[in-house]
Amino acid sequence: MKFTIAIDGPAAAGKGTISKAVAAHFTFAHLDTGLLYRATGRKVMAGMEPLQAARALQPEDLEREDLRSAEVAEAASKVAVIPEVRAALVAFQHAFARRDGGAVLDGRDIGTVICPDAEVKLFVTASAEVRARRRFLELTASGDATRFETVLADVMARDKRDAERDTAPMKAADDAVLIDTSELSIEAAVAKAIEVIGARLA
Ligand code: CDP
Repeated sequence: MKFTIAIDGPAAAGKGTISKAVAAHFTFAHLDTGLLYRATGRKVMAGMEPLQAARALQPEDLEREDLRSAEVAEAASKVAVIPEVRAALVAFQHAFARRDGGAVLDGRDIGTVICPDAEVKLFVTASAEVRARRRFLELTASGDATRFETVLADVMARDKRDAERDTAPMKAADDAVLIDTSELSIEAAVAKAIEVIGARLA
């Protein structure tokens, strides 16, 4: 069975948590496409050219433990503006999306550009303050000494870059179901996503 679930939204909206939970619930495979851009950005930080870095990506590059930092997020959103970098990452995402057994992909352009024919599209969002608070807690829990104001400014700058770029800007597909997690617990957000997907699967 081929069944693609596209989950898009701005930084730290809860896409990752919802995607993992949904994939586990329906026993679908999950691809966090942000990792492709983070791993590319990480290689650029180490001195590689962006396009060369995207083309050289190997599965083990996505396993690195240092991809979640604010610096790598920033580098990711800078390489993500380059059309040739995005193009270099398309084939892998297409193949993943149409694998047998169902697939969940989360990112910024999955429902609009990568999988416009996805069976289910969700756009997960929340206020910038709520998202920055979540990211701040994640970063401090992993030992990153940072300030809330810095995280908020980073998240807002990255959202602006992602939404305003010419190629594959972050936006909700016309047929996406919007889930605003500003005032939802993670359990409630996951339940909502499962309800929408379950209805399409039925
Ligand atoms: O975890 P968070 O939501 O903060 O970010 P991410 O999903 O890991 O994505 C990091 C960056 O990669 C984003 O800010 C985008 O610039 C870029 N990205 C993209 O352009 N397209 C995607 N499908 C996924 C990520």
